Amino acid sequence: MDGLVIVSNRGAVTFFRAESGERTYSRGAGGLVTALNAVSRQSENAVWVSSATSDEDLSVAKEGGPYEVEDLRVSLVEHDPEAYDLMYNRIANPLLWFVHHGLYNLPFSPDFGEDTKDAWERGYVRVNENFAEAVAKMVEGEESPTILLHDYQLYMAPKLVREKVGGDAFVSLFVHIPWPEPDSWRVLPNYIREGVLESLLHANVVAFHTNRYARAFLSTVEEVLGFEVDAENGVVRAGGREVWVRAYPISIDPSEFEELSGSEAVLEEEEYIKSLPGKLLLRVDRMDLSKNIVRGFRAYGRMLEKHPGMRGEVTFLAQLQPSRGGIPEYDAYADEIREVVEEVNEAYGTSEWKPVELSIEDNFPRSVAAYKNYDALLVNAVRDGMNLVAKEAAVVNEKDGVLILSEGAGAYEELKDGAITVNPFDLDEQAEAIYEALTMLEEERREKADLLRRTVHSNTIEDWVEAQMKDIAAYRRR
Ligand code: F6P
Repeated sequence: MDGLVIVSNRGAVTFFRAESGERTYSRGAGGLVTALNAVSRQSENAVWVSSATSDEDLSVAKEGGPYEVEDLRVSLVEHDPEAYDLMYNRIANPLLWFVHHGLYNLPFSPDFGEDTKDAWERGYVRVNENFAEAVAKMVEGEESPTILLHDYQLYMAPKLVREKVGGDAFVSLFVHIPWPEPDSWRVLPNYIREGVLESLLHANVVAFHTNRYARAFLSTVEEVLGFEVDAENGVVRAGGREVWVRAYPISIDPSEFEELSGSEAVLEEEEYIKSLPGKLLLRVDRMDLSKNIVRGFRAYGRMLEKHPGMRGEVTFLAQLQPSRGGIPEYDAYADEIREVVEEVNEAYGTSEWKPVELSIEDNFPRSVAAYKNYDALLVNAVRDGMNLVAKEAAVVNEKDGVLILSEGAGAYEELKDGAITVNPFDLDEQAEAIYEALTMLEEERREKADLLRRTVHSNTIEDWVEAQMKDIAAYRRR
């Protein structure tokens, strides 16, 4: 594919200076980055545009680009630090993220005012303009480039990119987080909700992880903008353009995880994992309010209360990666996590047994080692775009571990039959699900785990990319 440009706020690599003074880099981890790596393999000339986040990134940004790193060509965008701060810490993460994940406590928050408008214009829109300019530079001279925009940090980019590169470009925006029902959108000021929706309709394809989100998007367009939509075929007509609304459930590369699970770093971490007493209940998450971490510990406490026979027989390992520190709600949530863990450990722990092991660090090998060894995996998100932990863990687990899965996770659509499913707000249901998972008979565990493995293998990251590429070709042909 010629003229392929991938755009996301967080990129594939971060540059820095080594002690020797030489420029070096680290490759980003995480589901989105891995997925976009697979997209970038679609073309030798693909360029991946993302925000410069380190000092050395800024030097790379100033040199223009694209800059070649291993098999990638990257281009970094420099933002004014204040604009980036407003985009990331005032609009994208507290505000848009909260609306998409249903995290506002509506009688008390949010409060919008002039400061919101200012953060929107001088921050969010400004950063999106920078991206649009960078993309336009990358595709200069191309007749019909393919521009794949990713996620809620870039909602204004479809319109801004379209204005710069014209109607022949194929532009898509993939929303990697849940799309809430129309009423949630009504919380946002008009200039945001209408601004976002009108911008998205400048794309040729708007994509989601589940059919449910795609349907909710169509309803939002209908109700908030008053546009007619063809819900059956997933099409909206806007500005003389046909906009396809599609669901492509993101996945993982199972072979990557199978390989990783035999690596030395993972084997070393396995010693620690195996030293934990009793059965292993695991959760692996970014420290995000949407992940429902506090309720997970409360539910575990209730399980220990109701089933005293389980005391001393299980360890709950929570492997949590710090995230978005500096945003007040995230900082308060991190404190609450520590407090509830202390409460559970104090209430039920003994001199020989600690009910919860809380590990707050970015330790991917340890997460994979824990994936291999859990008896039960808790994924109880309030809402989650997909939740790749559920898929990653299922393919490397060696114990026919049981997945406890929230109805609010995107993964629910594909994995529900292989899991014990729970309402993320119901503590007693989660407590019982934890108990059931830890005491399930071998045959049922095996059946469920087999089903999960088969489901993940039947839709891998390559299938995810292929489905999108097929639709791009069909869209161009139509
Ligand atoms: O998929 C949601 C997402 O926000 C991605 O856009 C992002 O790469 C990831 O989660 C981690 O969030 P952040 O970039 O804010 O650390």
